[in-house]
Amino acid sequence: MDHKIFFTLLSLLINFSINAQQTVDEKVKALLSKMTIQEKIGQMNQYNGFWNFTGPTPDGGDQKVKYNHLANGLVGSMLNVRGVEEVKAVQKIAVEESRLGIPLIFGFDLIHGYKTVFPIPLAETASWDLEAIQRSAALSAKEAAVAGINWTFAPMVDITRDARWGRVMEGAGEDPYLGSLVAAARVHGFQGKDLASPYTIAASAKHFAAYGFAESGRDYNTVDIGLNTLHNVVLPPFKAAVDAGIKTIMNSFNDLNGIPATADSYLQRDVLKGVWNFDGFIVSDWGSIRELVDHGYAKDRKQAGEMALLGGSDMDMESSIYINELEPLLREGKISLDQIDDAVKRILKVKFELGLFENPYLYCDKVSEKQITGSEEIVQATLDIAKKSIVLLKNENNILPLKKQAQKIGLIGPLASDKTSPLGNWRIAADNNTAISVLEGLQKFKGNELSHAQGVKLINKLPEGFHEEVEINTTDKTGFEEAISLAKNVDIVVMVLGEYGFQSGEGRSRTKLNLPGFQQELLEKIYEVNSNMVLVLMNGRPLILNWASENVPAILEAWHLGTQSGNAIAQVLYGEYNPSGKLPMSFPRSVGQLPLYYNHKSTGRPGADGEDAGSVFWSHYGDEKNSPLYAFGYGLSYTKFEYSTIKLSSSEMKKNSSITASVKIKNIGKVKGKEIVQLYLQDPYASTTRPIKELKGFKTIELNAGEAKTVSFKIDEDLLKFYNAHQKWIAEPGIFNVFIGTNSLVKDKKSFELLR
Ligand code: NOJ
Repeated sequence: MDHKIFFTLLSLLINFSINAQQTVDEKVKALLSKMTIQEKIGQMNQYNGFWNFTGPTPDGGDQKVKYNHLANGLVGSMLNVRGVEEVKAVQKIAVEESRLGIPLIFGFDLIHGYKTVFPIPLAETASWDLEAIQRSAALSAKEAAVAGINWTFAPMVDITRDARWGRVMEGAGEDPYLGSLVAAARVHGFQGKDLASPYTIAASAKHFAAYGFAESGRDYNTVDIGLNTLHNVVLPPFKAAVDAGIKTIMNSFNDLNGIPATADSYLQRDVLKGVWNFDGFIVSDWGSIRELVDHGYAKDRKQAGEMALLGGSDMDMESSIYINELEPLLREGKISLDQIDDAVKRILKVKFELGLFENPYLYCDKVSEKQITGSEEIVQATLDIAKKSIVLLKNENNILPLKKQAQKIGLIGPLASDKTSPLGNWRIAADNNTAISVLEGLQKFKGNELSHAQGVKLINKLPEGFHEEVEINTTDKTGFEEAISLAKNVDIVVMVLGEYGFQSGEGRSRTKLNLPGFQQELLEKIYEVNSNMVLVLMNGRPLILNWASENVPAILEAWHLGTQSGNAIAQVLYGEYNPSGKLPMSFPRSVGQLPLYYNHKSTGRPGADGEDAGSVFWSHYGDEKNSPLYAFGYGLSYTKFEYSTIKLSSSEMKKNSSITASVKIKNIGKVKGKEIVQLYLQDPYASTTRPIKELKGFKTIELNAGEAKTVSFKIDEDLLKFYNAHQKWIAEPGIFNVFIGTNSLVKDKKSFELLR
């Protein structure tokens, strides 16, 4: 008998013998007992897609080695293989050629959509709409799942306080409370209620841990933070993801307090798999096991493998270290079989839960792929959340919304007609030129006369079709003249400026956060000739906007909003959608203020009201304010809301009970609008210093002009807990301050006492 047929039959027999009545744990155990050491280690090995699997088989070099590993059951997962045909072809090798036919799990960076692109995660967070965020993850998962993907390396739940770090676009901003809710929403969205559905996929919270605290905002840089910040700020969103049932966690490139996270047993074994009881698996980041050598932590690749396994990493992404080094390490007694078995059990469990053993091709249905990719349901959801993600930063004299008739509108800027940049970074499967541009969005409103000039050109350092290194011009001002003369002859100018889609993201740290290239100069030149201006910003991180904020009458933060970008922006500009987004990150006045975040400590020298203390010896800068230009939680509407003072149901809270805080909010403007009402708490003195305030609740209300509603928040003891000086997660009795307002600058407060 042909050996391939023999092994196929054998594997079918083995799979069949995995009794359907068994629990997942029993099935895993039964399978594990049949595996050789090499097959076990193989499950812990992940390769990047290394050739076109529907084409000829590689016949030499590294690719040949990897192919042989696949065919011999020495690969547990692939990343970046996508599309039904490709996935099917490579799954077939694993299932039909290897001895046990264990299916592969296919990982992919599904960060904000697959073919149809949702807003970047930072933008989506600005919606504070957890249902919409969950739907975005669920529909992204659906579109990717029908293309063969069954595991995403998302959500990125790194808390970040430094806009220099390019990856702020991938996360939920600076706040651990909002970040935790967003993390849970995304996990529920990706994984759904039934992981074995062909439309749901396993999620991976990343990067464990503290990657967002890279020194100076320089990607991959060292992190040095204490246990207080680690437990109170960095870890809560990971804990929320675990509580939401996340199946995998990705560790991180950085070292944390001297130990590279990939080998950190405190983080991975003690906290994550220990205290939190996480029963999924941990995947390394790309080559991060190999990087233990570059960190100067392991002396060679072999020791790196040992340290990563002992540290708790279950799967090796693309280092080829586990597959080559774990067996010798086991023989030498440096690692144990139990440690390997534990990792393999975790990986197999997820594969069983995904339904891959019952049908390795569950995620490979050509018909669904055709029907679901780009479907109306997905497109409408991207438009919905794109509108909700927009933040109105300024609107002097109600210059917005734009009038719909008889206006001459001049649309200016390098990003105004661009159909690729709005897709942002991290959208590997999407095609370039598929976003609706602002120009196209505005063209749908026919009552006005619209003209357009680029002003500043884009430069692409790469061959046609690649956009990863597009920059905004710094040498050529030849477009200025056309733009200036256009501006002179219109009623209102709409400028579209910001960062090109790939100017934020991994490896895209910046020391300057102003508008890149000649954009600032263009903005000022246009303003000189026509100051009736709206600035639309497209960017992946907070920018420094001091001049614009002082001069330009209206500013709309539109981030990188994905496929429906131009439609969402146009509908907001024309008032068909009243903006309600709120900033998930503070916008600095100056790079020198970074890291900048609202929930900072008081310090021993806070100054009067934290600003303008009138002397030298308080915690401040001689040349800049402490406060951000636009604060966390800030965002305007086309209407105005008035807040009453806070009412507390009691000025005392007994242990294990709760009180209610409420305010009345009235729409005092002329149009209907939504307001995100925010609750902040402060523990003014405790066994460790605590932030000046912390977000602990929010509710979105919609009010007609003139309408008022009371919004109430339940405050219970859980909301008061923190990781204290004795390494306990605890609420300490004493006074607490309650703030309810429209953003993190809220001052009005009431106090209550938590009794002993
Ligand atoms: C490196 C990135 O840090 C990580 O977030 C990503 O998932 C992997 N590359 C795989 O692409």
